[in-house]
Amino acid sequence: MEDPRGDMDRHQPPPSLWPIGFAVGVVCLLVGLIVSWVAAAVGAAIAAIFGFLWARDVVAAGRHEQPTVPAETDGAPPSAPPLPAQEGGSAMPEPEPAERFPRSVFLEASTLGLGALIGAIVTLPVLGFAVLPSFLKQGSKDIDLGPVENFPEGQYVVATFMADAKQGEISRRSAFIRNNGTVEGKPSFTCISNRCVHLGCPVQPGGPVFDAKKKDVRSSGSGLVELIPALPAAGFICPCHGGAYDQEGNRTAGPPVRALNRFEFLIKDGHLILGTMYSVASVSGTGATARIHKYGLAGPGQHIDGPEAWLYPLQPPH
Ligand code: FES
Repeated sequence: MEDPRGDMDRHQPPPSLWPIGFAVGVVCLLVGLIVSWVAAAVGAAIAAIFGFLWARDVVAAGRHEQPTVPAETDGAPPSAPPLPAQEGGSAMPEPEPAERFPRSVFLEASTLGLGALIGAIVTLPVLGFAVLPSFLKQGSKDIDLGPVENFPEGQYVVATFMADAKQGEISRRSAFIRNNGTVEGKPSFTCISNRCVHLGCPVQPGGPVFDAKKKDVRSSGSGLVELIPALPAAGFICPCHGGAYDQEGNRTAGPPVRALNRFEFLIKDGHLILGTMYSVASVSGTGATARIHKYGLAGPGQHIDGPEAWLYPLQPPH
């Protein structure tokens, strides 16, 4: 009597850990899309490696499943008992033609293919319509703060300007600017954003601000620029939750997790121009010789170095 279980076992692929590894890779990839590009890349690599190993096993199993025709023996008795003679027919049935692609392999491949297709149909529109717009047409405009002579060497000046004059006062921002003199013939400026990196409150100089010495400068594209000298002897203080920073913007107390953001700068036609803002983990040294540990612009509260940086979501470019 034919053993149905034996026939079923013949069509079962061997047990394998590759699908589990593949699933772990896909999960890592999806989580990485939210958390970090690095995690997404690691997930994609894991999924690709285990997917390849899985597919290789499935194909190999498919080859082994092809039934073989018993070899001719030289008079030796066959291991299986001979089938009874059919009425009016021969004792040995005709062997079935070998299946080139067994049904189990076809079903497995089509299930995987359909799953991947449905996953792509569900995921790609979400990525396209919900995530991509945040990454397109971003960037900051250059801000003209006026002639460099308005920034005395070694002194901080609180500069208030419009980030986009077309948007008006709503785009008004502030930065702490210090002229560090020149290094190897090149001008050096410290340009620190006044936005606290805890939750974004405006940071104040920890010392006197000389309103009576305020200068108004008209600049193209940045509206009216106000320049007020300040003496932040105690660094910069955030009144919201007690965050504190030193004169280089390093965090010294309170809940902020990194140093204050800074602006790129350049000198053009004798004017100081602020460019793209970037994030800073910390600053070693001071003034013109400071070493700035610089990163792409991150959101308030976001770690940008160390293992904690993995726990914070991707920020679209600003
Ligand atoms: S916003 Fe500055 S300490 Fe909280």
